[in-house]
Amino acid sequence: MDFSKDEIIEILQDDGQNDWLFSLADKTRKEFVGDEVHLRGLIEFSNICKCNCKYCGLRSENKFVQRYRIEPEDIISYAQNAVDMGYKTIVLQSGEDKFFSREILCDVIKEIKKLDTALTLSIGERSFDDYKAFKDCGADRYLIRIETTDRYLYKKLHPNMDFDNRLRCLRDLRALGYEVGTGCLVGLPEQTIESLADDILFFKEINADMIGIGPFLPHPQTPLKAAVHGSFTLALKVMALTRILLKNINIPATTAMETLNSNGRLIALQCGANVVMPNVNSSEYRKKYEIYPNKSSITGSKEVNDFETKLKSIGRTISKDYGFRNNS
Ligand code: 5AD
Ligand code: SF4
Repeated sequence: MDFSKDEIIEILQDDGQNDWLFSLADKTRKEFVGDEVHLRGLIEFSNICKCNCKYCGLRSENKFVQRYRIEPEDIISYAQNAVDMGYKTIVLQSGEDKFFSREILCDVIKEIKKLDTALTLSIGERSFDDYKAFKDCGADRYLIRIETTDRYLYKKLHPNMDFDNRLRCLRDLRALGYEVGTGCLVGLPEQTIESLADDILFFKEINADMIGIGPFLPHPQTPLKAAVHGSFTLALKVMALTRILLKNINIPATTAMETLNSNGRLIALQCGANVVMPNVNSSEYRKKYEIYPNKSSITGSKEVNDFETKLKSIGRTISKDYGFRNNS
């Protein structure tokens, strides 16, 4: 099914349509990617960031964050543990931390790729040559959210960043053969429904392989501390529409959704999502990776087991394969 921009706007505005929207998204998910849920083991290896995004707790001007960097050999041992626990994808995520040069990261990537795992990077804007080097070392996927396709809003929220460079990154990653992930925030101050419709159409236009969508959550140590948080339902609707339009892609039930609604992850999995990203860092680091408050991630094998039980109760199972985009 395809929707025009006007239809998308109408659906986003009218909560009377939510029931059929969510059930169509769930049906589309089942038809195109099945009942398996892919777990991705997330390693947040550095919370140091040169960017100053107005919404993010890790922004460079937030002096209250205890910054950390995990040593390359420790990143590799976290990855080994995650693989031993059965994860088939490792996600390396960090702020934009220039300490992690092309050379250092290439060594880490090569080591992790010796393990039996797919590898996703989520480390921000880099040069074409960096992206190429990471790919040549075996990185499979790359996540970089566009955050918002509204250029005016983008500029306002991202001091010293350039929307066109963000687009360039997405283009380069695609040209290099990565599976490309992007996504947006929902409920940013001044964000319009129309611009959310543009975000969804943008995902379709670039044929993204993965889309992460989460409500904006104000962080007390940012300029947006007094802003109203994004709506859980609206974020769910943006996600459901994305599933219906892009069909066979991978969509995580995001941590931000679970943070706003204590059952958010399971609800998202029944409205189009098919991926969950448990955190495999130790709690010492997890607490310090506070992009927004009360980040609620699945951690450790007990929580994963409990989660698997919940999954079974909604007719879903944990996948044992790498979880590339299902192009069959
Ligand atoms: N609320 C919700 N999501 C946020 N992110 C950053 N700060 C916030 C916030 N305050 C998201 C951004 C980024 C991802 C890693 O986290 O979309 O791409
Ligand atoms: Fe840095 Fe990402 Fe936070 Fe922006 S959203 S400040 S790039 S960690």
